[in-house]
Amino acid sequence: MKYFIVTFGCQMNVHDSEKIAGILENMGYQCGETREETDIIVFNTCAIREGAEDRVFGNVGALKRQKKANKDLIIVVCGCMTQKEKTAKYMRETFPFVDIVIGTHNVPKLGEYIAEVRAKRQKRLLQLFEEGEIDESLPYVRTSGENAWVNIMQGCNNFCTYCIVPYVRGREKSRQEESILNEIKNLIASGKYKKITLLGQNVNSYGKDLSPQVSFAKLLKDICALDGNFSVSFMTSHPKDLTDEVIDVIANQEKIEKYIHLPAQSGDNRILKLMNRSYTREKYLDIIKKIKEKIPNCKITSDFIVGFPTETEEEFLKTMSLVEEVKYDSIFAFMYSPREGTVAEKMDGQIEESVKNDRVNRLLALSKCLQKEDK
Ligand code: 5AD
Ligand code: SF4
Repeated sequence: MKYFIVTFGCQMNVHDSEKIAGILENMGYQCGETREETDIIVFNTCAIREGAEDRVFGNVGALKRQKKANKDLIIVVCGCMTQKEKTAKYMRETFPFVDIVIGTHNVPKLGEYIAEVRAKRQKRLLQLFEEGEIDESLPYVRTSGENAWVNIMQGCNNFCTYCIVPYVRGREKSRQEESILNEIKNLIASGKYKKITLLGQNVNSYGKDLSPQVSFAKLLKDICALDGNFSVSFMTSHPKDLTDEVIDVIANQEKIEKYIHLPAQSGDNRILKLMNRSYTREKYLDIIKKIKEKIPNCKITSDFIVGFPTETEEEFLKTMSLVEEVKYDSIFAFMYSPREGTVAEKMDGQIEESVKNDRVNRLLALSKCLQKEDK
């Protein structure tokens, strides 16, 4: 019995797919080579932009014929997209040949659902999940070579006005520090991993929800104190929570990679406020200055959104000038995509696609130019 997993979206999803693989291998499935020769196919979806969702619909739709030819094929759609009740229902109605549609929170129960479908050939299980405890016991099938992803927290409390993540991943929930340290100790002891990448939507707010609280700086120091020859990196940082203490730890700890992904999203204060980012351009530049002073060789990257509702040409030029000023090692630039249920989706002044397209191209061209200049 073979399984095949198609993953969309961010590193968090890649890591979730490693857990899904663990569940499937526990049930006796083996990793298949192609999506055609498989007994179960899982789409782990992403909802961050409309384009990501369109790709999922296209991929799932294309399976209709395969399912006709192989009635025993089990099709699962899970992840951020199907955590949204409306999208999950739409998926069920439009693609009735999909067997299991579940959200982000019920992946731990995937094994039970598959067993149920196999036993009864009961079609179209739809389960949206309540936020639950982080499941520590399920195994991972790690797929990133010498790098091991380690989740340190789930969810996000920030509610940036454009972002769907807090709605589909729930509130911030940190793992116990001891459990994280044990996982890393075992990974290093296995001899298979030389790099640990800590994952969270906003790693800098790690531990604020634990009692007693544990700071991200302490977690980093405690990880570095573990025996072994390995490096540590992390993503993603939010500028509002990146403390001087964390910058010092990165500077002083040899094991920590000198790399920070610090999404700015915009270089204009009015737009930053509308985005609910809780920092100004000046505050952001201040943090960048500190990083460059304390960690001179630090690689810095960022995310930007262009064409946020009401963004003027002048405000967009502020983003261009921020990119010029910081001289990032690289950036990701996205056209704003309205996400249903978010605050920004309801804002007046939505920007035309052609304008967004023009801005994203100009921003990417500028960033490419600056990278060449440095070399
Ligand atoms: N439209 C465009 N880009 C978005 N991002 C998040 N939400 C949206 C959206 N609605 C971008 C942000 C974030 C990255 C992962 O995706 O830049 O940092
Ligand atoms: Fe989305 Fe903002 Fe949370 Fe990042 S910090 S996941 S952009 S709400």
